[in-house]
Amino acid sequence: MEYSMVIPAAGQGKRMNAGKNKQWIELKGKPLIAHTLSVFEEDPWCREIILVVNEAEQHQFHEAVDRFSFQKVTKIVRGGAERQHSVFEGLKAVAETDLALIHDGARPFVQQDSIHKLVVKANETGAAILAVPLKDTVKKAKGETVTETIDRASLWAVQTPQAFRLPVVLQAHQIAAESGYLGTDDASLVEQTGYPVSIIEGDYLNIKLTTVHDLIFANAILEQRERETYD
Ligand code: CTP
Ligand code: MG
Repeated sequence: MEYSMVIPAAGQGKRMNAGKNKQWIELKGKPLIAHTLSVFEEDPWCREIILVVNEAEQHQFHEAVDRFSFQKVTKIVRGGAERQHSVFEGLKAVAETDLALIHDGARPFVQQDSIHKLVVKANETGAAILAVPLKDTVKKAKGETVTETIDRASLWAVQTPQAFRLPVVLQAHQIAAESGYLGTDDASLVEQTGYPVSIIEGDYLNIKLTTVHDLIFANAILEQRERETYD
């Protein structure tokens, strides 16, 4: 079951505070973006990867793709001011395909079995996302006073990849662009059009590297994987 991949990597990594785009942070001697690209390079179901980058770093990304010999990166396109704009640019560059997957460049630990479960579901329903049940209790507050405890049983922490039939997600992005709606993920744009989105349970290790604390977890995950390989 084949799919095309859009990987937004055009952010600035402000919350990481690394003084550069966090995609260049090295984990075990390899930049974050190369860890993420490897997952899809190695997935036989992945047909092509569209990498979305900011203009000033285009050259650097081309070099990294050459250095790690990523064969599936067919296009490196220029992103926009917000993640949503970057994804839209990436989607427009996808060649004729049934399914398009969107995955954060900053999320290197997604597992192939989760990707495949997601793809099978999206192939069936047209729209599916990876998510995990929320572990914390969530409350609503007004100022410093709690107004409500939300029933956790119905809450999910949403991840990427998110998978869609290409026309479904392209149309959703088009409508959002026209109305000026800015969502925090791509599924929310699809939801706005009334199209139902399915949830596939992923795993808690598929973290997004957002702040410096996430690097502690990232290194621990890589060390654990190394131990598993050598055992
Ligand atoms: N992204 C993008 N274009 C943007 C903003 C973000 O392609 N204009 C990408 C990032 O490079 C990242 C993914 O979207 O791979 C998820 O975004 P986030 O974790 O917020 O990364 P940054 O925007 O780089 O970080 P920050 O918000 O802390 O500045
Ligand atoms: Mg951001």
